[in-house]
Amino acid sequence: MRLDKFLSDMKCATRSQLKKDIRAGLVTVNGEIVRQSDYTVDEKQDKICYKGNAYEYEKFVYYMLNKPAGVVSATEDKREKTVVDLLKDIGRNDLFPMGRLDKDTEGLLIMTNDGVLAHELLSPTKHVEKVYECTLAVPFDGIQKEALEKGVDIGEKKLTMPAKVVILEEKKIALTIMEGKFHQVKRMLQAVGNEVIYLKRVCMGGLALDESLQPGQYRKLTSKEVMLLQEKQ
Ligand code: URA
Repeated sequence: MRLDKFLSDMKCATRSQLKKDIRAGLVTVNGEIVRQSDYTVDEKQDKICYKGNAYEYEKFVYYMLNKPAGVVSATEDKREKTVVDLLKDIGRNDLFPMGRLDKDTEGLLIMTNDGVLAHELLSPTKHVEKVYECTLAVPFDGIQKEALEKGVDIGEKKLTMPAKVVILEEKKIALTIMEGKFHQVKRMLQAVGNEVIYLKRVCMGGLALDESLQPGQYRKLTSKEVMLLQEKQ
């Protein structure tokens, strides 16, 4: 990796400021001043200091993405735009989505390169809670609520696990589930005679979507938020 890219990924300063500072001798690699911005560093081994402060390359990174409709939850796709394409500017290419949302679903998607944490949180035995806001085709009623809270038949071997339901509007609910079967929320609503016309995930593992993120925007998780997820392991 180029030295200036490493430092700019570490958010030390702007790229143009870094170029000047590198030329001015403010950066050392393994104790030696390096004045070339395009100098190649081994980001996992070299000790890189800027203005006397050492910068460690982050092994694991965690981002919260407000997934927009129209992109697929995959790392690559021949035809469709993927969620990974949306995080092109972060300076690394090893991220993947923690789980999947349908192409037309919006909302919270965690993007990371931490395979162990992802595996743990997605494991069906962990029962990590996911909250979805569902806009529905027809009014929601107490009978549908009771059925979802008991468990419904979506064509799997077993009924779905009991869900939590909060009625938000006549045709809008917040549904909390602890499973993650293919199209699960849409199939659950279909099983009670309704239909999801818009779906948004607002929470996963106790981590809430930052509502200041517009669809397509993302930000790094804070260390508190990362700890919250790690506690679920
Ligand atoms: N359930 C669905 O039906 N779709 C999603 O994208 C997520 C959960």
